[in-house]
This record gives sequence, structure tokens and C-alpha cells, in this order.
Amino acid sequence: MDASDRPNVTEWPGRGRGAKIAVMAQLSESVSLDTTDSSVAVLTVDNPPVNALSWHVRQGIFDGLNQALADGASAIVLICAGRTFIAGADISEFGGTAPKAASLADMQEVMENSPIPVVAAIHGTALGGGLEVALCAHYRVGLASSKYGLPEVNIGLLPGAGGTQRLPRLIGVPKALEAMTSGRHLPASEAAADGLIDEVVEGDWEALRAAAVSFAERAVAESLPLVKVRDRDDQVTDVDPQIFADFRAKIARKTRGFLAPEYNIRCIEAAASLPFDEGIKVEATLFMELMTGPQSAAQRYAFFAERQANKIPDIAKDTPTVDVQKAGVLGAGTMGGGIAMNFANAGIPVTVVERDDASLERGLGVVRKNYERSASRGSIPAEAVEQRMGLITGSTDKNDFADCDIVIEAVFEDMELKKSIFTELDQICKPGAIMASNTSALDVNEIASVTSRPESVIGMHFFSPANVMKLLENVRGDASSDTVVASAMAIGKQIGKVGVMVGVCNGFVGNRMLFMRGAEADRMLMEGATPAQIDNVLFEFGFPMGPFSMSDLAGLDIGWKAEKSTSSTVRELMCESGRRGQKNGMGYYRYDPETRAATPDPEVEEMIRQFAIDRGHEQREVTDQEIMERLLYPMINEGAKILDEGIAIRGSDIDVVWVNGYGWPIYRGGPMHWADSVGLAEIAAKIADYGERLGGRHWDRSPLLERLAAEGGSLAGHQNG
Ligand code: 3HC
Ligand code: NAI
Repeated sequence: MDASDRPNVTEWPGRGRGAKIAVMAQLSESVSLDTTDSSVAVLTVDNPPVNALSWHVRQGIFDGLNQALADGASAIVLICAGRTFIAGADISEFGGTAPKAASLADMQEVMENSPIPVVAAIHGTALGGGLEVALCAHYRVGLASSKYGLPEVNIGLLPGAGGTQRLPRLIGVPKALEAMTSGRHLPASEAAADGLIDEVVEGDWEALRAAAVSFAERAVAESLPLVKVRDRDDQVTDVDPQIFADFRAKIARKTRGFLAPEYNIRCIEAAASLPFDEGIKVEATLFMELMTGPQSAAQRYAFFAERQANKIPDIAKDTPTVDVQKAGVLGAGTMGGGIAMNFANAGIPVTVVERDDASLERGLGVVRKNYERSASRGSIPAEAVEQRMGLITGSTDKNDFADCDIVIEAVFEDMELKKSIFTELDQICKPGAIMASNTSALDVNEIASVTSRPESVIGMHFFSPANVMKLLENVRGDASSDTVVASAMAIGKQIGKVGVMVGVCNGFVGNRMLFMRGAEADRMLMEGATPAQIDNVLFEFGFPMGPFSMSDLAGLDIGWKAEKSTSSTVRELMCESGRRGQKNGMGYYRYDPETRAATPDPEVEEMIRQFAIDRGHEQREVTDQEIMERLLYPMINEGAKILDEGIAIRGSDIDVVWVNGYGWPIYRGGPMHWADSVGLAEIAAKIADYGERLGGRHWDRSPLLERLAAEGGSLAGHQNG
């Protein structure tokens, strides 16, 4: 249901027409009570955009329940207007000072203990506190399209309104463990099969409302029991403790460093071992611990940062966008294949053009293998392999792009090649089509300059593997039109990416900062730090891997040519000695051929040491603290320069790039948020010290960083425009 379908609650009193009780009351700015159609009172929440449980919603439901009881209603239906049922607590109220109102617990208590049936009518998503409210109703009916989840874990929390105790009582411990540690949204069919909802309703919102009212009438007529989930103990009795141990082991790798998944598990353990009220106390204690800790603060910040990144100050919200009926991708290599998959996954036909049949066959073969692997793991249905492959058409003729609404170029990173390609695309693409480049560092303006329509050109920088990584760094050229800018963001959303709009510079936001980290990592290698030591510092910080593991994964020989190699860098030395990285089991590390487990290679360490000594570098112990500072502080410095130059719109956009594209641990918010938490003055001072000792452009202090450090300002909160 879109916004235009939302019932205008203020018009409802006019529908009184001799109904049984004919009462319509606006209880708070967002909740109304309607008993015009039958003796069933209908409480409607209308708090756009997602009916979050803001203070006036809690108070309104609390008052509405009490009023319906006082008015002598026979039953109560709780429903929401707009696009969704309650999507959770109002996250923007956390840590703030919202006006005092009924607490969630007070409101839930009235609902659960109501002497007349309460039925929750659910459309859209019932999430977090929203589902926790619905779990206090005696019955739940939901549209076939509705979804259910406790996603608090994704903002570093656990369900704090009884959900940790009620959900396992309804759907059982194993299922609750999975749902609460993943935050997954269960579709209505699954929710019904698990006993989470009592009836699935086909049709629209009106059908849902009618079905909920008649369910309530039936509950009255047939004296159905007033089911309190809290009293249902069958699913939480005699639970084998081994379930918890096994589950912890299963998710350990994925949840490394995060507190919230473990705390969610502890609450479910409490549900399985303590009476309900004792379990609630455990939930409350652990919830408060998470809520007041730095991880959840960072994850809540990241939630809003991601949504903020969608807003581009000088682009009006209603800017028309290109409707992509058909996409084109040039090049079916590492990136092109993955980019094409994104469109096919979203149901959009895509034409992939390669330079010759052999390259095309190889590229599409990789795409097919990826789909087959996903199907064999169960992450897509078996029939999806052919469906999605059927949306991808291979060709070796660029003229096949003529009817595409967008063409994304993903050929080799070579300016001359890209220019010649865009000259051709200019002749082929239809008017209004978007011509995008996936370049990872080149000047988008220079690429656009060879076309007769630079306004249609934009950078759309995907990350490898492009079908998996969430980030889409869109690069706005000087001439990119508003429509093209708005479309790049909209298309990103359509294909499931997290989009960030940035400006043109070498490496844009992400890679430009990465270059600084890489420069300092190489330098420390020369001073005596080992690849494993450097990687380990980042791993412990929360990154999935460090720079040397990453190089091994990508392949050490990218861009390396034996005939041109002169033993002048460590990387050249590695390639000359036959080390290609993970693909041949030898790189900065040695890889077990079976398990791919990495172990440090003493030969490589000696090779690096000798190389450094030969070039006059004195060897010493480099501490982990120094490694951390020298890897991360130049990135922060560069991020501040990027902000100052207007390449990023806001500090939080930089964080969205690093969290979604480079594995920065979300529980540390991103480099800008983290810098604020460490203290800008401290970081600025350290940068000055290192700069003096080591020299190098990346240690030249950013004037913005200096200013914010002096003023006590914030990098994450800094916004241009
Ligand atoms: N509180 C406050 N604002 C919220 C919100 C919430 N829980 N959920 C969404 N919003 C806001 C967003 O910031 C955004 O605002 P904007 O338009 O100004 O940028 C707007 O609502 C729309 O959100 P999306 O762009 O995300 O809209 P989608 O349609 O893509 O997704 C959604 C809708 C699936 C509901 C998604 O917003 C979502 O996942 N929300 C968070 C759900 C959640 O985490 N709930 C648990 C909250 S914590 C809790 O309940 C604690 C309890 O246990 C006590
Ligand atoms: P790749 O070498 O894997 O693939 C390039 C493909 O382009 C090859 O299959 C090649 O046959 C094809 N090609 C070359 N010239 C062509 C032409 N004239 N017509 C049609 N096809 C042609 O390279 P990769 O890694 O996919 O990179 C592509 C682009 O994406 C580059 O600009 C790169 O900088 C960028 N990029 C790469 C990332 C990565 O991690 N590999 C990440 C983000 C961007």
C-alpha cells in the first residue's frame, strides 16, 4: 500500500452512520479509536513513515485500550495506517529526552491482561517493538505480504520489550535463536507455519481490517481463550543446553567482535531456564547494557547514516529518474559479471558485451557457476539459476546496447581504452540513456569529455565481488545532470545496494583513503613489522582481513608483467619468486591446499627483511599500537581532506562507504565516527608527531581536522552544502 492509500483518519468520524457505538476519538497525535462499524473497537496508529513507537504512539495505544474497555467494547483490533505495522521503537528517541508518556511495558500490560480479546492486524512489517506489542495481543492476523522480525541485533541491541521471552515461547528456541541473532524478517507463510500468527489474509489493507474485525467478533462469539504468550511454556521446557553451545559455535565467525548476538542468546537461555518474570529482568539488564554501550551507539548511528546518504542536498526529492527496463554491461570480467548479476537478481534484463566469444563464454560461465553455487547452498531456489541466466544476454556487439536505459562500462582500468569506449557508446546509446563507468579511480570528467552528452555520464563504482558487496559509490561528474545523479541512487536502491554520492578525485572516497593506509603498511614492512603483525592489528580491530591478506586474495600479479619486473618493490619480488597469492597457495602467506588456512611464511619475512636492509632501512620492533595509529590515522586525515574539498557531502557518508565497502566493523561506526570517539584533538596531535618523524603528504594535517579538533567539533557530523 502506498501513501495515497493511507486512510485519512481525520475523515473517519463522518462514517458514523448509525453504527452500534459510533465513537471516533483522536487519542493522541498518532492514535485514534473507532467503534463506528461494530462493537469491536479499532485502534489505528498513524505515525509516518513507519509507525515507530514514539511517545505519543505508546500513550495513544495505552489510552485507547483503556477507553475501549471503559466504553464496553466487545473486542479490540490494533491496526496501523500507512505502509506498515509498527516497525519498532522510535530509534531517534534512544538516548534523547522524549516527553514522558506511558512506557511500552505499561501499554503491553494493559493489552495482555485485557478481559476482552485483542487482535493485532498486521501489514507491511511488524519489527522489533512492533512485533513485541503484537505478541501481547491474544491473536495476530496478517496480510500474506506481511513480514515479522526482531532486528534489534542489527542496531547492536536485543528486543527490550519482552520479545526475548515471548518469541521462543511461540516459535521455539532453535528458531528464535536464528531469528534474533540474524534479525531476519520472516514472511507471513513462515510466521503462520511457526505459530507466530494465527491467520493469513489475502488482499489489501481494507481486507485485513475487515478480517481482523471478524476474527475479533468470532473470538467473542465462540469465547476463544485470551491467549497470553507469556504463559505458554511448552516450547521452553526441557531445552537441551547443547543447542546453545552448538549455535554459538555456528555463528562465531560471522559475529566476531559483536556483543549483541551473544546477549540475545543469553536472553533466550534465560527464557529456557527461568520463569517469565525473571527472564524479563535478565532481558532488561542486558538491554540497558547494550543501549548505553558504544557498539549500539555506533550501529544506530550507522543506521541513520545509511539513510541520510540517500539525500543529496541540491537534488530535489521529486527529480525524475530513468526507469530502467533494460541494462547493459560492457566487460564480463571480475566486475562486469557481478554487476550484471545485480540487475538479473532484481528481474531486470541485461545485455553483456565482451570483446570476443572466448571472453564472453568465460565471463558468463563464471556467472552461471556463482548462481549454481548459491542454489546448492540453498540461498536461491534451484529454478532461479535458469530464470536469472535467462535475463542475461551475451553479445560481442556494442550495438546491442542501443535499447538499454543504462550501460555500465567495466573494462580494464585504462583511460585511453575507456575514452575510446565512451566515444563509441555516445554513438550507440539512445538519448537519455545513462552511460556509467565502474572505474575505481580514474577521472570521470575526462571520460565524459569525449562524449557529446557529458550530462549523461556518471561513475558507478561497485565493489568486488559486485554481486555481494553492498556499497555503490556513485561518482558525480561536473556535468552529470540532476536526473542522472538521482537515477544512479535510485537504481542502486532498486538492485539492493547502499548508495553514496561522491565527487571526482583520484580514488574517490574509499580508495583514496585506502591508498593512505596501504602506503603506511608498506612503510612499516620496511621498518621491521611483518605482514602477519600488520594484518593482525586490523583483524583484532574488527576488519575481516588486513592489507596483505587482501592482496593475496585479489592476486599479487594484477597488473604485473614479468618482462617489465625489476625487483624494485616487495610485490615485484614476490611475483618474481612465483608467488601469486591465494590462487597458487603462496603469497605473503602460505595457504593450506585443502582448507585455504593461511600461515605466515618465514621465507617471505626474510625476503622482505633483506630487501629493506639492502635499501638502508634500520630494523626495529614496531608495536601494535603504533601499527594501529599509522594505519588508521592517515585515513582519518585523508577523510577530513575529502570532506573539506567537498568530495563527500557529509562525514557520515564516508563512514557508509567504509562500513559497506571495506569491512570497517559497523560496531565502530566508521572512520569518522570512530575518530570522534577517540577524540579529534588526540588524533590531530598524533598526526603532527608522526608527520614530523616520518614525513609524507598523507601526514600533512587536514585544516578541517585541525579546526574541528580545536573547536571540539565532529567529523561524523560535518556536512557540506
Ligand atoms: N525509528 C525511527 N525512525 C525509523 C525507524 C525506527 N525504528 N525505522 C525507520 N525509520 C525511518 C528511517 O530513518 C527513514 O527516515 P527518513 O525517510 O527520514 O530517512 C524512514 O523511517 C524510512 O525508512 P527506510 O528508508 O529504511 O524505509 P524502507 O521502506 O526501506 O524500510 C523498514 C522500512 C523495514 C521498517 C526499515 O526502516 C527498518 O528496518 N527499520 C528499523 C526496524 C528496527 O530496527 N526496529 C527495531 C527498533 S529497536 C526496538 O524496537 C527496541 C525494542 O525492542 C524495545
Ligand atoms: P577484468 O580484467 O577482470 O575484466 C575486464 C573485462 O573487460 C575483461 O573480461 C575483458 O575481456 C573486457 N574488455 C576489455 N576491453 C574490452 C572491450 N574493448 N570491449 C569489451 N570488453 C572488453 O577487470 P575488472 O577487475 O573487472 O575491472 C574492470 C573495471 O572495474 C576497472 O575499471 C577496474 O578498475 C574496476 N574495478 C575493479 C575492481 C576489482 O576489485 N577488480 C573493484 C572496483 C572497480
